[in-house]
Amino acid sequence: MAIRDSFKRALEDLRISVTDRCNLRCLYCMPLAEYDWVERRELLTFEEIERLARLFISLGAQKICLTGGEPLLRREIEVLARKLARLPGLGDLSLTTNGVLLADHATTLREAGVKRINVSLDTLKPERFRQIAQRGELEKVLAGIEAARLAGFKPIKINSVIERGVNDDEIPDLVEFARANGYTVRFIEYMDVGNANHWKLDRVVTKSEIVKRISARYAVEPAGREDASAPADNFRFLDGKGEFGVVASVTEPFCRACTRARLTADGNLVTCLFSDCGHDLKGLMRAGASDETITGRIREIWKKRADRFSEERFEAMKSPEGYQPEGRRKIEMIVLGG
Ligand code: GTP
Ligand code: 5AD
Ligand code: SF4
Ligand code: SF4
Repeated sequence: MAIRDSFKRALEDLRISVTDRCNLRCLYCMPLAEYDWVERRELLTFEEIERLARLFISLGAQKICLTGGEPLLRREIEVLARKLARLPGLGDLSLTTNGVLLADHATTLREAGVKRINVSLDTLKPERFRQIAQRGELEKVLAGIEAARLAGFKPIKINSVIERGVNDDEIPDLVEFARANGYTVRFIEYMDVGNANHWKLDRVVTKSEIVKRISARYAVEPAGREDASAPADNFRFLDGKGEFGVVASVTEPFCRACTRARLTADGNLVTCLFSDCGHDLKGLMRAGASDETITGRIREIWKKRADRFSEERFEAMKSPEGYQPEGRRKIEMIVLGG
């Protein structure tokens, strides 16, 4: 049965982080070399994830997205994917990855029942990739995306976080790359996630700027959101070569329609990407709670949910004092999976 939060938002999507580890260190996400990593025994097991997923589905979740950190670093991720894909009532199972290990997993993920793949790609220049991600190789990511295409994934969404002075000059090249290969590129406004990325408003390339720059080269028209709660607002190329999207959480926040719950790798339920803490479901489970007790707890947490961080940021940005990103401690993005 569907549940509603304090703003009447249903719980429709579940983002499950399967690990907080990542093989990259993107400056906009996790710039530090070391973090307080989750210990192995604190990770949810596949059985625990499957059980929670089933309970979330019973409360109305229809879509599951597997994330990290980097989800392909979790050993035997395909085994988990297969378990989740079989859950009755689940409409969509996707995975968001940095692509580095995707070439080795694309076929097996598809066989396991993953329906869609989203891959981060911020640049097509190898040296710049190194500057942004601090580790890894662009070539591997490109090979991963190609492998996903050959494995039959469609759509493949490319996520490009745009930061002024870093990669905003590549917007047209990323558009061309996507159009040439049948991918949908989504440009993401640089967000103040976590506590260490030194976010500044003047580094954000706004949605209106992105759309203006693309419209200068291509005829496009608004295509709207895939569904009311989708973060990306889409635009169609009038020559029939697909669409691009923009995730504009800074300049056009979409909290009003936010139906996303997040489950961390160590079993906390988090109700907003910018939350400062989560609610421990693993502890309940490991103490032997029944399905009814756990769904009761989730229901209770969701009912009280009043998160609207991006809207609050937007209001603060317009106030005389402006927005102070340091003013609030947040859970790191790698723990939440975006
Ligand atoms: P699909 O289009 O259904 O595959 O999902 P998605 O766009 O939600 O997933 P993806 O993991 O590809 O995320 C794309 C970008 O949107 C990432 O930068 C996320 O951090 C961001 N994003 C996703 N959900 C939210 C949200 O609820 N709030 C904010 N502020 N950003 C979000
Ligand atoms: N701003 C916007 N998007 C971000 N992501 C990670 N950090 C940020 C940030 N500071 C994106 C990744 C990935 C998705 C899960 O979140 O690029 O595509
Ligand atoms: Fe980069 Fe994604 Fe890893 Fe963050 S989790 S460092 S965005 S690859
Ligand atoms: Fe949802 Fe929080 Fe993002 Fe707003 S800021 S859309 S409430 S996750």
